[in-house]
Amino acid sequence: MRRFAEIDSTNRYLLDQARAGAPEGTVVVADHQTAGRGRLGRTWTAPAGSSLLMSVLLRPALPPARLHLVTAAMALAAADACAAVAGVRPALKWPNDLVFGDPVTGERKLGGVLAEAQLPSVVVGLGMNLTRPPPDSRYRAVALSQLAGRSVEASVLLDRLLAGLAALAEDWEAASSRYRHSCATVGRRVLVTLGLDGESFTGTALSVEGDGRLCVDTDGGVRAVSAADVVHLR
Ligand code: BTN
Repeated sequence: MRRFAEIDSTNRYLLDQARAGAPEGTVVVADHQTAGRGRLGRTWTAPAGSSLLMSVLLRPALPPARLHLVTAAMALAAADACAAVAGVRPALKWPNDLVFGDPVTGERKLGGVLAEAQLPSVVVGLGMNLTRPPPDSRYRAVALSQLAGRSVEASVLLDRLLAGLAALAEDWEAASSRYRHSCATVGRRVLVTLGLDGESFTGTALSVEGDGRLCVDTDGGVRAVSAADVVHLR
């Protein structure tokens, strides 16, 4: 495991290490990122020391159409670790978010997952708010210690998360089934935005397909989406 007080991006660093032959299972953790990467080319920012910022290098024996399972497994492992260590279980919002809340209080983002492939390597990173949410977040955000009502030890959470991820990576089919059955987006009314500033539509999420796409029942029929942003509607 490599730890940095500050780095541009743990995902960027580990992708470079992967190209240089770093072994599967290499983990990078940082207190602060100056150029943290988010989904769809966005940035991920968090005050120094406020979050769990980590990346893991995997070389999964998965066909390209199943690589989304790496993101799903990390989200599941993170949710399991929160439940075990902090006593709160975030919901999994398709495709990569850990959220907390209900239709009355509204949903708040606890963390997000970003997997980046340089085949055969896949670097999967997690950013999770631990002590406080980022003040300038584009999302309504929350931190794990706020939800738990006490401080949460990052190293304990990380150990649990890595053990869970290793177990899920032993059986991708089981990970797929678990994700598809526990994804909180399924059954919800959703607002879907395609790409970065793309077309939007609403509908009811029906399922997560085996290739990771979300099937949404719309007025115009069922649509399966991959690179999209989803908002859970009340
Ligand atoms: C998202 O919700 O858009 C995904 C955010 C993923 C952020 C994490 S922080 C650790 C790792 N390194 C990065 O540069 N990004 C991921």
